[in-house]
Amino acid sequence: MRKMALVGDRQWVPLVTGGEVRRLDLDYAATAPCALQVRDAVDEILPWYGSVHRGDGFPSAVCTELQEACRESVRAFTGARPDDTVIFTRNTTDSLNLLAHALPEDCEVFGFATEHHANLLPWDRRTVHRLPVPDSPAHALELLDAALASAARAAGRGGGARLVTLAGASNVTGEVWPVAELAGVARRFGARTAVDAAQLAPHRPLDMAGWDVDYVAFSGHKLYAPYGAGALVGRPDWLDAAPPYLAGGGATRQVDLPAVDWAPSPQRHEAGSPNFLGNYALATACELLHAPLRSGLVVQEQRLAALLERELARIPGLTVHRMWDARHPKVGTVTFSVRGVASGLLSAALSAEHGIAVRTGRFCAHPLVKHLLGEGHADGAALRASIGAGITEQDISDFAWALARLVERGPAWSYRRDGARFVPDPDPRPMPALSHGARVQLRAAERRAEAPLAPVGAACGG
Ligand code: ALA
Repeated sequence: MRKMALVGDRQWVPLVTGGEVRRLDLDYAATAPCALQVRDAVDEILPWYGSVHRGDGFPSAVCTELQEACRESVRAFTGARPDDTVIFTRNTTDSLNLLAHALPEDCEVFGFATEHHANLLPWDRRTVHRLPVPDSPAHALELLDAALASAARAAGRGGGARLVTLAGASNVTGEVWPVAELAGVARRFGARTAVDAAQLAPHRPLDMAGWDVDYVAFSGHKLYAPYGAGALVGRPDWLDAAPPYLAGGGATRQVDLPAVDWAPSPQRHEAGSPNFLGNYALATACELLHAPLRSGLVVQEQRLAALLERELARIPGLTVHRMWDARHPKVGTVTFSVRGVASGLLSAALSAEHGIAVRTGRFCAHPLVKHLLGEGHADGAALRASIGAGITEQDISDFAWALARLVERGPAWSYRRDGARFVPDPDPRPMPALSHGARVQLRAAERRAEAPLAPVGAACGG
């Protein structure tokens, strides 16, 4: 199986040490490059772009028709039931916040401390049962079983709604959660299950109906469709009973103030003009990946992930962090640290001296990273390399070579700390010369004259 064609495959990036190299992106878990076919699909539809559900022009009719068809592509991709609703959102965080907003008032939420902040923080308006980091998948099942049993005992005969919310795959370790088994435990106690599939969707087939999962949330930007769309798919009843997530045009059937007759989902939660291009890009990516995820892509990525771990294991002082046994299935995401070397320094030098993008910090999953690194870890930050459909064996060898060289010899450039991060000092890399957006580029040049080309802030505090 060949690698997927991606926009930017042949992009060269400048080095602080002079010259340029082909960019190597090993940060798919944060955001994946755009698939060429997704970009082409968006370019092709742009001349037809018109308002969705709001116009009588022919382009409006085309976009309205396509927008509704996009829901079917997303439905098929997630393996949803025919009566599940497909709501377009901005991303997984937005989807999970929407679901949290729609939970019945008496709903109790159950989740592990291992979650990404997107699946950790939105639930606090309800009673949350936070479960510790499990030692193994079997332990996860035991912990959930015990927590649900205890809540059921406390509720006696009564008891309200219950939701178990879990990641399909960890954004830190890449380990795949036993989704169907956990959903089975939830169902025994009458609880529903929501899956944060941001990290799973690009790497494994989703099967909501087969897993008996009630909700799935995922993002286009991790699925080779970085046009600002995501989706929440699942049971419509709670969503139809909840107040609209956004109040505004498109979410109503009739407004006769003070009375408002809100539409059912999906329109109920999609007020405002939709991100049609984003939704179209997301649906195109769903169609593009549907078959490969069910044939060669998973095996190909697993082979590359195993190679990545083997290569990392050869580097002295390097520890790969994981929750569970090394044989447990995972997607190609590896978090690691190197004894005695600041993770941020390695990450900055990989980019500045080798054109290789990885991520450093705590990956918007602070409790899990703290657990993995231990209390006494020097800078509380790790490195993460993550792969996807555009990566080759040569890419992994190049990365391992560059990392080993940095660990052995140290950086060849000077860096200064900028909060938790390191930035090259000086940073002579020029901004790319772009032929559009001249004024924006001018402003960027002005900003750069004041501060070097560097991340302005650490997302999630690292
Ligand atoms: N959720 C993304 C990550 O883990 C941003 O990097």
